[in-house]
Amino acid sequence: MSVDLVLKGGTVVTEGGPVQADVAVSGGIITGLTAPGEGPHAHRTVDVTGMYVLPGVIDTHSHHREPGYTHKEDIISGTSASAAGGVTFSAAMPNVYPPVTTAKILKDMYAMYAEKAVIDYNINAASAKLEELPEMAAMGIMSFKIFMVVDTGRDYPHMPGIGVHDHGKLLKMFQEVKKTGLPIMVHPHDQALMDVIEQEYWARGERDYRAYAKAYSSLDGVIWDTAVGVLLRLQQATDVHLHILHLQTKGCVEMIKAARAQGRPVTSEVNPWTLWLGNDWANVERLGSYALSYYVERHHYEAVWQALLDGTSDMIATDHAPHTRAEKEPGWENGWKAHTGTPSAQEYVSMLMTDVNDGKLTIKKAVELLSENPAKVFKLYPKKGAIRIGADADFAVIDMNAELTLHNERIVSKCGWTPYAGRKVKGLPVHTIVRGKFVFEDGKVVGEPGYGEKASPLTDEHVRRMQTAAAMVTA
Ligand code: DOR
Ligand code: ZN
Repeated sequence: MSVDLVLKGGTVVTEGGPVQADVAVSGGIITGLTAPGEGPHAHRTVDVTGMYVLPGVIDTHSHHREPGYTHKEDIISGTSASAAGGVTFSAAMPNVYPPVTTAKILKDMYAMYAEKAVIDYNINAASAKLEELPEMAAMGIMSFKIFMVVDTGRDYPHMPGIGVHDHGKLLKMFQEVKKTGLPIMVHPHDQALMDVIEQEYWARGERDYRAYAKAYSSLDGVIWDTAVGVLLRLQQATDVHLHILHLQTKGCVEMIKAARAQGRPVTSEVNPWTLWLGNDWANVERLGSYALSYYVERHHYEAVWQALLDGTSDMIATDHAPHTRAEKEPGWENGWKAHTGTPSAQEYVSMLMTDVNDGKLTIKKAVELLSENPAKVFKLYPKKGAIRIGADADFAVIDMNAELTLHNERIVSKCGWTPYAGRKVKGLPVHTIVRGKFVFEDGKVVGEPGYGEKASPLTDEHVRRMQTAAAMVTA
């Protein structure tokens, strides 16, 4: 009997680590892992000798901007950029227009994704309207999301309607989300502190990108730490699964470590801009608002990197946040007028592979941070997140020896620029495969809009059935 596809000759990064193996795929599922050259006959065999075969990368935090802000990005361009970066599943954020606060809006958005997504997807819905939470949870969302920010001086990316910083409202929200069984992702921010801090900057006449960067990170990260302190206490009071976004200070790392030591359901992500962009003031000087997301002082970056290595933090997720050049330019004069955020979906895997090549982490650890842990935290595992029998045949095939100086002309995102332009990387995605089908092949996006499928958190029963089936195959 022939299978659909065999990836032959590669180094396959399994949960146990890298092994030389061929991978067989049928019906979009991984059906076999064999010694090299001993794979079954296949309708199509692709030679990946010399390359690493990783599980498809799971990005749990991306801004695809549709509906509402499609001049920046849309579902097709956003999921195509992800495909070009080795990503096989991308979860969208709710700061679109209309913001995703009701079941009706969510339903319409799912219909758009079914028609347009190039890779697998889900949506993180805003938890602002409590009466809508049970129905949205029942529709299979991955997580709820809330921003503790409401912008001053601009109305994007933190528009009114999905920003909540009142502690009472947050408590109520945590209680209601807890009933749904889903996690709540929070962008931590203390608005009252930011109000005071930014007034001080403005009173001194400091408004440019430097002032903006320093205001956010001032007093050793007090805006972030205070918010995370509150969130963790509310988590303890409600036992909700709290997923902290944008981990970027030493103080937050220490608080998360203490909460996890008590066995509490607290997880977190780190974003590419913390690891490779905003952690170096020279990038802020060179790129102005194009480097901001946020500025992360060196000792904070070091604590966060250590947290990823030692397991205190779970994953890298992009926070892919495309904005046009026209939306970034005002930042040279007024940092508060530029839209905050940086694109990274196409680049982050190569940045991390470069670190693997430089010996900063192992390939196994990289796969945990990119695929396995995000899939486990959001209950997509074992369907996704690992190369194992019975899992979806999602792969990122990486040429660890390929070198490139990143540049704007290759950018698939609609925004057309990357803050990583000029960076030398070593380790590039060559093919991206979603459920057995190539969506990115030999460096070109070949996926079709509408191929992507929604992937929802698995029930315990579903996990049990998958595990039984896999045990039968391998027995
Ligand atoms: O930098 C950011 N950009 N932070 C956010 O919270 C939102 C995001 C965006 O949507 O652009
Ligand atoms: Zn974000």
